[in-house]
Amino acid sequence: MDCTVAFGPLSDADRDAVAALIHRSLVQWYESRLRQGHRFGDQAAPFRIFPDVYEALDPGESIVARGAGGEILGVCFTHERPTHLAIGIVATAPESGGRGLAKRMLELALAKARRLGRPARLVSSLLNLDSFSLYNRLGFVPGALFQDLQLAVPAAGLPGPAPADAALVRTAGPADAAALAELEYSLQGIRRDKDLAFFLQPTAGAWRVLTLPGADGAPRGFLVTSTHPSALMIGPGVAADEAAAAALLWRTLDLLRGKSVVFLLPCAATNVVRAAYAWGARNVELHVAQSTAPFPSARGVVFPTFLPESG
Ligand SMILES: CC(C)(COP(=O)(O)OP(=O)(O)OC[C@H]1O[C@@H](n2cnc3c(N)ncnc32)[C@H](O)[C@@H]1OP(=O)(O)O)[C@@H](O)C(=O)NCCC(=O)NCCS
Repeated sequence: MDCTVAFGPLSDADRDAVAALIHRSLVQWYESRLRQGHRFGDQAAPFRIFPDVYEALDPGESIVARGAGGEILGVCFTHERPTHLAIGIVATAPESGGRGLAKRMLELALAKARRLGRPARLVSSLLNLDSFSLYNRLGFVPGALFQDLQLAVPAAGLPGPAPADAALVRTAGPADAAALAELEYSLQGIRRDKDLAFFLQPTAGAWRVLTLPGADGAPRGFLVTSTHPSALMIGPGVAADEAAAAALLWRTLDLLRGKSVVFLLPCAATNVVRAAYAWGARNVELHVAQSTAPFPSARGVVFPTFLPESG
């Protein structure tokens, strides 16, 4: 295929084209395979949040595939962090699908990870075997399983009593960034201080960060929410145990009364999953963490997200 694949910054016009491409590819893939194109709405404009946030957070780290006339046929966002290279979203134009474009973009990302001497990580849908296979064939190994839960939070609040530690949850501020980054490193082996600083002093999008202090004052967990109207989504976050995860999730959902929201929970966090069902949540998709070199010592409860997909 006559096409160039390269890292580069995204101009204003590029960002509109990238938003249109991501929207079109998702609608086409999910509609043609699962009759679920409607999940992504009928407007491309909300998808501009991806290039806008990523150019603010990781400028120049996007990989773009361009046709002979310069038109954008594929995009793959990479996020360099001290412990790993995160990848996502990946999308190719439907009419260019199956011709190795995504593979070429991923190979460039993996070459960068090798140069850095760090593993590459992503979270992929288990309903989308094209993407699962793409990553798997390139050397990614599946790890933890996650269920995507959708919940319309009642205007009167969640049913039933709040989890025991919910009253201890508080809003995090810039001064918490280092402790939250350290907690994630100690539990999961990954560092993303940059993301936490970004969430706590947002320059694009709109994030809210809650944290749960332990008895010694050190955090037991944190949970970020993107409150941007284009991408209302819970995550990323991490908690030392399920009780902390449930408390953070409850308080986050309580702030979203009257709104419908999606969040990912590890299938292994059975108590939190059961609590989410009791609050009315329904499974809408399954995802799996994939890495070129998993961290075997990872522990705690993880809340992945797709914006920014940097875990
Ligand atoms: C997923 C997506 C990016 C794939 O793009 P693409 O350009 O069609 O992918 P490629 O042609 O580069 O490669 C697909 C690879 O997966 C392989 N593959 C696909 N289905 C497979 C299966 N069931 N079993 C084994 N391999 C499979 C192909 O053979 C190919 O590998 P190869 O080149 O080594 O043969 C594209 O379908 C898309 O944009 N989908 C919508 C957006 C999306 O869902 N993105 C992923 C989530 S972030």
